[in-house]
Amino acid sequence: MKKGNEKFYITTAIAYASRKPHIGNVYEIILTDAIARYKRMTGKDVFFLTGTDEHGLKIQQLAEGANKSPKEYVDGVAGEIKELWDMFNISYDKFIRTTDDDHVKAVQNIFKKLYEKGDIYKGAYEGMYCTPCESFWTESQLKEGCCPDCGGKVNPAKEDAYFLKLSKYADQLVAYYEANPDFIVPQSRKNEMLNNFIKPGLQDLCVSRSTFTWGVPVPVDNGHVVYVWLDALANYITALGYDTEENSDLYRKNWPAELHVVGKDIVRFHTIYWPIILMALGEPLPKQVLGHPWLLSGDDKMSKSKGNVLYGDDLIKLFGLDAVRYYLLSEMSFGNDGSITYEALINRFNSDLANTLGNLVSRTVSMIQKYFGGVIPAVTVEDEEPEKTLKKAIMEGKAAMMEHMEGYRTSDALDDIFTFVKALNKYIDETMPWALAKDEEKKPRLAAVMANLVEGIRFAATLLSPFMPDTSKKIGEIYAFSDDEMTLESLEMTYPATNRETNKGEILFARIDEKKFFEQL
Ligand code: MSP
Repeated sequence: MKKGNEKFYITTAIAYASRKPHIGNVYEIILTDAIARYKRMTGKDVFFLTGTDEHGLKIQQLAEGANKSPKEYVDGVAGEIKELWDMFNISYDKFIRTTDDDHVKAVQNIFKKLYEKGDIYKGAYEGMYCTPCESFWTESQLKEGCCPDCGGKVNPAKEDAYFLKLSKYADQLVAYYEANPDFIVPQSRKNEMLNNFIKPGLQDLCVSRSTFTWGVPVPVDNGHVVYVWLDALANYITALGYDTEENSDLYRKNWPAELHVVGKDIVRFHTIYWPIILMALGEPLPKQVLGHPWLLSGDDKMSKSKGNVLYGDDLIKLFGLDAVRYYLLSEMSFGNDGSITYEALINRFNSDLANTLGNLVSRTVSMIQKYFGGVIPAVTVEDEEPEKTLKKAIMEGKAAMMEHMEGYRTSDALDDIFTFVKALNKYIDETMPWALAKDEEKKPRLAAVMANLVEGIRFAATLLSPFMPDTSKKIGEIYAFSDDEMTLESLEMTYPATNRETNKGEILFARIDEKKFFEQL
């Protein structure tokens, strides 16, 4: 990280420490990782936060079912999640857990502050109550008059609770949306917030519970715990040491966040409740919230009961780390849900990774070994038509990729890279190096073809690094590119690797035989 560079604070949602996350949750962290890595490439001073959301009734019940204390239970799941994030090569700077002592204390301070200010007040929660689920429901949430979770009987009930005055800040929130048109992306999600939640009138939010105990104790009232969303949302500032002496530098430096990356289902919490909590605290609001789409298993939502849940570690074993990263980042478009199946993974693996990228890298290095003893030759001849076309495709691809990444459109950005990777393969077919090699006089032309291929590969390897960091490194090793030659600034057609010795390297992506794959599954 270079000193004096602009900061970029980026976060994921914190996953519930209820059970091991499936590949849908993994998509979010890979997306955030790719954005964070890209921002680092552009010179931003990135702070990347992730973590786990560990309180609430559901977790308390799961712990009871597993005969563990809630803390023992979440320790296990948080450990699994961390392991998984490491397996996926996630470059986070901090992992926060909502059971961390300093987070708990900070949440209590936040509650107290808002209570003393009068923005949190004591009232009564009234609704239909389901005793086995220990949950309140509004009439409209009921399914045929019964609990939407267990289908059981519900009874009218009333319970003391604390509320946050949302309505007081509604106008200020709308003004913030208006002054910051890109606060919520994609735009369609902003319209949903305005039309479905804000315009009909914001109800004050219940921010305490007294029917279970696994949560942050409310500082002003024994017997209540802080509502899990207030506890969870606060992580984005408590992780930086908001309101504490020792860490306030980190807070002052990084807050407000440049980007919260969250799933479309929880955009509401991040663009209504969270900004209002911050307004009530008198803190600046995050600059942007990206509500990403969902990954479906085939055409269905992933769910244990449907038996269609896929897990990241299993997929890594079957396809390799970067292939899974690539699949998720290229398959998921900016706004629409994407889908994952073994068949689709195999298809993309074979067509994009084995045939297009892997083949280019290995063909080129083999030709350099064969025709130039493994040393990357220099260009000594003028460009002809194929070079002109190729260079244009490469430079345009780089510019398009960067533009798409500024808008967090990873699948389009990958498309831009693969478009010029395909142009490189086409360049081989057109220039026919095997024919040039037969004629000694054409050796300089053959050298130029090899040098241009290596240069194109350097662009591809560099631009792919936010998405497939290991693959990018492996390609760099094959062609002996230095770290300085794999930066955005270095991407001009300047042939820095001329006269370097190449290394054969391993096969990057060996084709998968679909029939065998399913036989061995
Ligand atoms: N704990 C809350 C978030 C609190 S943030 C202050 C939560 N946890 S979660 O484990 O249910 O989800 C974590 C993230 O994963 C959310 O952003 C959610 O939208 C995302 N996803 C869950 N399933 C997903 C897919 N199938 N596809 C893509 N993202 C998915 O919500």
